[in-house]
Amino acid sequence: MAKAASSKKNKKQAATAEPQVSATSGSGPRTLAVDIGGTGVKTMLLDEVGKPLTDRLRAKTPDPATPKAVIAIIADFAKELGDFDRVSVGFPGVIKKGVVYTAANLDKKWIEFPFADELSKALGKPVRVANDAVVQGLGGVSGIGVELVITLGTGMGAGLYIDGVPIPSLEMGHHPFRGHKTYEDYLGRRALAREGRKKWNKRLKEAIDQLFGVFYYDRLFIGGGNAAKITMKLPKNAKIISNEDGILGGIKLWERDQDELRQ
Ligand code: BGC
Repeated sequence: MAKAASSKKNKKQAATAEPQVSATSGSGPRTLAVDIGGTGVKTMLLDEVGKPLTDRLRAKTPDPATPKAVIAIIADFAKELGDFDRVSVGFPGVIKKGVVYTAANLDKKWIEFPFADELSKALGKPVRVANDAVVQGLGGVSGIGVELVITLGTGMGAGLYIDGVPIPSLEMGHHPFRGHKTYEDYLGRRALAREGRKKWNKRLKEAIDQLFGVFYYDRLFIGGGNAAKITMKLPKNAKIISNEDGILGGIKLWERDQDELRQ
């Protein structure tokens, strides 16, 4: 499915703020959607409504997961996937105006790294970056009332939306859950592997109750690779969202006003 990249795409230059639609992209802009996780880097091309145009390419997150190593993977995938006009990235940490401030499950070199600018230089296209859970939620929430998104993967991500607008940098995963231990300590990938599904599900139930007590959300959405490990009965106002919702969030990142997203 993937096509060879045009040489134009690889120009190492800063891109303009708004994407130019390439002649080959059909009726609307094509987006290179990237999801960076603690275990995998995933990339695919989407059309203007978020429909996949290619397979989803996945590589293991490099170790050490430095900015240079991660950007190299994205650049290789971009070449393989073919023409695109703009890039959206879900990143597992705090992002403000394209700059990374935390990266709990990646290399420390990410701290204060101007990721959006650097990736834009590497790919020659405009780039928008937001927290991975925020991106996932943008594709999944209804846009009405108070909605909470949590993602269960290597870490625990969270996004809180008021009428569809995310509040910046919730980072619920690093908040104490029990004693000095955080939600991520109890519900992240390592905890699931260590404790097993049954115990992890019991903890998840407890966490959901606790989060409801804090936010009184109207709806809760649960995404991430380990959402598939949920066996407990979810409350009526909670639902699992798919990877596709997360991918659609990559398109929403371009549809929304960046100032409103504060990412
Ligand atoms: C990070 C969050 C991220 C989550 C899921 C946490 O460790 O701090 O920013 O959303 O992992 O990737």
